Amino acid sequence: MIMKSFFRVLFFIGLVVFVLSLGTASAIDLTYREMLGKNLFFDNISDPDWMSCATCHAPESGWTGPIAGINVHGAVYRGAVPTRFGNRKPPSAAYATLSPIFHFDEDEGLFIGGNFWDGRATGEDLGNPAADQARGPFLNPVEQNNPSKQAVIDQVCRAKYAGLFVSEFQMEYPGLDPCDSDNVEMAYDFVALSIATYEDSREVNQFSSKYDAYLAGEVGLTEMEAMGLELFEGKAMCSACHPSEPGPNGEPPLFTDFSYDNLGVPKNTENPFYKMDKVFIDGSPINPEGMAWIDPGLGGFLETRPDWANMSEENMGKHKVPTIRNVAKGFGESFPKAYMHNGVFKSLKEVVHFYNTRDVEDWPAPEVSQNVNIDELGDLGLTDAEEDAIVAFMKTLSDGFKVKKKNK
Ligand code: HEC
Ligand code: HEC
Repeated sequence: MIMKSFFRVLFFIGLVVFVLSLGTASAIDLTYREMLGKNLFFDNISDPDWMSCATCHAPESGWTGPIAGINVHGAVYRGAVPTRFGNRKPPSAAYATLSPIFHFDEDEGLFIGGNFWDGRATGEDLGNPAADQARGPFLNPVEQNNPSKQAVIDQVCRAKYAGLFVSEFQMEYPGLDPCDSDNVEMAYDFVALSIATYEDSREVNQFSSKYDAYLAGEVGLTEMEAMGLELFEGKAMCSACHPSEPGPNGEPPLFTDFSYDNLGVPKNTENPFYKMDKVFIDGSPINPEGMAWIDPGLGGFLETRPDWANMSEENMGKHKVPTIRNVAKGFGESFPKAYMHNGVFKSLKEVVHFYNTRDVEDWPAPEVSQNVNIDELGDLGLTDAEEDAIVAFMKTLSDGFKVKKKNK
């Protein structure tokens, strides 16, 4: 016990020196476990060694993709092996820990929760969808591409924060060495759980937007933002899926109900996954279907689960409602981002215009034509100014807002 606190103190001194040397002391105090998770999130644990979680989930762009040139086109980020691409746009890694464990809600008759666009990181294994999720990218050949769990743990055990890893691991498993290959399964899950602990911290789930300050009575909305909020909760029906009101005990709204829907979003024809019929891993093409590939969303995941496979057809093309906290956050006002599971839309104005006019203007066909929601969107009858107001409201959802103190 004494030794453990001794190492903690040593580590802490090192950390303080490090932070001071960067001159970027953060205002948020992280626990040791959160600090470990943060180190893991930002470390280049990949093969080859250049890619971290933050490569695709950068805080500055709202915990999603930070590269403008990718966002305006295919929207899918390349893997550590740069010829390889996955199939979807990175969603925000913030607020993901607050998703419930994936389940079928008998009352609503809907699937709820999980992580990933299709919910397949259910949380059934480690007790939190984000922890189940975090086990994936390190080993995924189109992402960080490490050859094995052992390779990941070896790198962590050589890292500058290895002491922290060992001491935190031993808090859970006294006397066991996470760097011993006998314990690799436990150590790997511990890495995932630690990342999820960081993702659950106040540094990631900040609840520090202008809208949060507004709910706390610290700041007013502009006339346009207020009009946007009214439309968001009223005529435009956005809050039916992206709830905007605090919970019964004042819980801040998450702007997602963690349900699934097919909005009839068109294909993103620039998605690099379509060309993955020519890139092979162990002799098989990454995407055997090439241009003919269609993203099955939730239905595709359900197909793989005997307990739910009978419900896969009615869920084809549905994707998880993403939080829209931080949707506007980027490097400056005009930084381009990509929206929807395939990143086909490039601005919030385009997103709102799609909701408003899908069924009355000429939009490309839906990627999946089954199960398209025709009740809550498609012909909202919003004016151009009303669309702009909703966009203005969504811009109040970026974390890092500072309430200006009034001059005396
Ligand atoms: C190459 C880019 C890339 C890297 C590297 C990457 N991700 Fe992701 N991330 C994605 C994509 C794409 C998805 C969506 C995949 C899907 O739905 O099938 C995703 C989904 C997620 C989600 C789910 C969010 C939600 O609300 O469902 C979380 C959380 C997340 N990533 C965290 C991480 C962590 C932690 C790491 C590092 C261990 C990581 N990501 C590495 C691209 C990346
Ligand atoms: C019926 C449920 C539903 C309603 C109503 C709804 N949304 Fe969504 N929203 C979703 C789903 C599901 C997605 C993801 C769809 C996909 O990727 O195919 C989404 C995606 C988004 C995104 C993209 C976020 C990202 O990270 O890519 C934005 C922005 C958004 N919605 C804003 C709105 C606004 C504004 C309204 C009202 C005009 C609205 N939504 C109404 C379900 C809904």
